[in-house]
Amino acid sequence: MEMVTLNDGNKIPAVGFGVFLIPNDGATYEAVTRALKAGYRHIDTAAAYFNEAEVGKAVKDSGIPREEIFITSKLWLQDYGYEAAKKGLETSLEKLGLDYVDLYLLHQPYGDVAGAWKALEEAKAEGKIRSIGVSNMTPKIWKEFVPQFATMPAVNQVECNPFFQQKELRALLAENDVKIEAYQPLGHGDETLLSHPDIVKLADKYGKNPGQIILRFEVQDGLIVLPKSTNPQRIAGNIDIFDFELSDGEMDSLRTLDTGKNGLVIGLVGIALGADAKHP
Ligand code: A2P
Repeated sequence: MEMVTLNDGNKIPAVGFGVFLIPNDGATYEAVTRALKAGYRHIDTAAAYFNEAEVGKAVKDSGIPREEIFITSKLWLQDYGYEAAKKGLETSLEKLGLDYVDLYLLHQPYGDVAGAWKALEEAKAEGKIRSIGVSNMTPKIWKEFVPQFATMPAVNQVECNPFFQQKELRALLAENDVKIEAYQPLGHGDETLLSHPDIVKLADKYGKNPGQIILRFEVQDGLIVLPKSTNPQRIAGNIDIFDFELSDGEMDSLRTLDTGKNGLVIGLVGIALGADAKHP
């Protein structure tokens, strides 16, 4: 597995296994167990996913040394502010059954963002978090909040796929070597993306499936990706993208697929209002 070096010097596996919307009825335990067996060493959960306990149990039961698995969780809206964020992190650690998380994110800008960030900075200094970052920050939101932070976030986890390449945000984050973690890197299974002729042509050329071409493109372009699948073959296939390389010309042609638009604005507004979890 290829590793990406973050701006704080820590390393993160370029492909992670996300557990958004996987129920906590044993399904998360099973999925994480399967992912670890398939070779994933990076698991992405969140307080808002209500499945941290099953992630922690699967990691523990795997017998894989803790330091070989990169675990991310995220602070949810009820825990913003300095004191609340400290408690939110403790709850995450308790549920996960861990002494530390590798990465902890402010899931969604809300309320006292600066206070919550300060709590994360202190937890990092205490060794409870290795790296700290944010999620769902558009360029406008980034410019509003990040100048108040003493520590630069290591990542910003946002929606990103070949039709929505986040070029403006990437240029902004590159100024401080902040990495993008792409959720829904396959466009949430968008068939117009997965069956796009340019992608299918490359899949045929390299003997890969279209999803693997998309993920390879994204990782080769510097992204950390969190593809989702419930299909055991695709779960395994989505990390099998390190035995081929797209040419510069192929990378350039895939970069032209960007439309600059996403389909999740309404979902984000909904989640900010606590209405419905439509996005990770
Ligand atoms: P499935 O669970 O049947 O594999 P995203 O990660 O962008 O949210 O996309 C997830 C969607 O993409 C799911 O519907 C998933 O379906 C599908 N998917 C995951 N991996 C692949 C792949 N390698 N090729 C095609 N579709 C995939």
